[in-house]
Amino acid sequence: MAGITIIGTGHYVPGKPVSNSALAKVMDTSDEWIRQRTGIEQRYYVAEGEGVSDLAAEASRLACADANIDPKEIDYIVFATMTPEFVFPGSGGLLGAKLGIPRVPALDIRQQCAAMPFALQVANGLVLSDQAKTVLIVGADAHAGFMPWEDWDVLSGESDRAVRPEAFEKGTRHRGLAVLFGDGAAAMVMRKGEGEKGFIGAQVHTDGRMYDRIFIPSGGFRSRPYFTPEMFEREEHIPRMQGRDLFKTAVTELSRVVTQLCEKHGVTFEDVDWFVAHQANDRINNAVRQQLKLPPEKVPSNIARFGNTSAATVGILTDELRRDGKMKEGDLVCFLALGSGLNWGAALMQL
Ligand code: ACO
Repeated sequence: MAGITIIGTGHYVPGKPVSNSALAKVMDTSDEWIRQRTGIEQRYYVAEGEGVSDLAAEASRLACADANIDPKEIDYIVFATMTPEFVFPGSGGLLGAKLGIPRVPALDIRQQCAAMPFALQVANGLVLSDQAKTVLIVGADAHAGFMPWEDWDVLSGESDRAVRPEAFEKGTRHRGLAVLFGDGAAAMVMRKGEGEKGFIGAQVHTDGRMYDRIFIPSGGFRSRPYFTPEMFEREEHIPRMQGRDLFKTAVTELSRVVTQLCEKHGVTFEDVDWFVAHQANDRINNAVRQQLKLPPEKVPSNIARFGNTSAATVGILTDELRRDGKMKEGDLVCFLALGSGLNWGAALMQL
């Protein structure tokens, strides 16, 4: 039976790009370090007051136009973000309202950077069980709110005043994390494929024992109240990340999950046209590529221009490949991602 396939994609990033050299004004880092260790050259940040559903609405309109459908044809939203506008409710309903489709069910999923294989699996289940016909999958993240600097005017080049030494030190304390992330959204419109085309299968995993590899320590409901001034003094609103450990886990688990998924469905790596991997770090994806002996042209990268946009990376890359005419109907695609939770997985789809 045919599973879902992609009928339209779109992506959106806010504002102007912020270079690595601009980041070096607010913390002790360098363009050279960031490029060498991650492959990132620039990223975008939301403006104050702008939220993920705003980014998602732009991306979704583009995806609907690409699919040649009216947003009113969407009968289910699957929204992935780790940086929602509010602690609750989730941002999916806000997106539905902005798209002029209130009352359409919106499921908010919390798989962080690993969202896409999970979202595809859920959307496929909804369509094959006749619960929905046209599913909008969105990944959107706005990390600006947890960045460790206040000097946005210096970062944007609006001001060339000196940054306070304490502020510079604070930025530097969190530099390993802060240089990685950028803001953006991607949307994919999904419908049942024809004939043999469409979703083939997914393999996804969650291991909560590794929750502390990357997480936000405070602002949760173990504490009364759930935000306190002391949390901010301890800088616990900024994520903590064990970068090296995450790196190794990502390479091991992503290689394993792709191998097992392909074996299960009788797909060889030669059969796969594209391995669309989460863009957390070029070095992670290069290591997976080498481990699986994949040709570089099958593992595209755009992290240089966007940084890690968390739930949005896989969709942004897919949209770019489709719009450039590289990814075409009939191509066999393997999506793979790992993120906070830890969650990880892969999904296979014949477009
Ligand atoms: N600029 C300059 N120097 C830095 C920076 C920076 N931005 N960040 C760290 N350094 C320094 C460190 O202080 C350290 O210095 P020392 O040797 O004097 O102690 C040195 O560089 C090496 O630091 P490491 O952390 O060991 O560097 P590493 O090569 O591991 O790279 C990185 C760090 C890029 C974070 C890498 O570990 C990584 O990408 N890990 C995976 C991260 C990831 O995938 N995160 C997203 C998860 S997905 C999600 O769901 C959100």
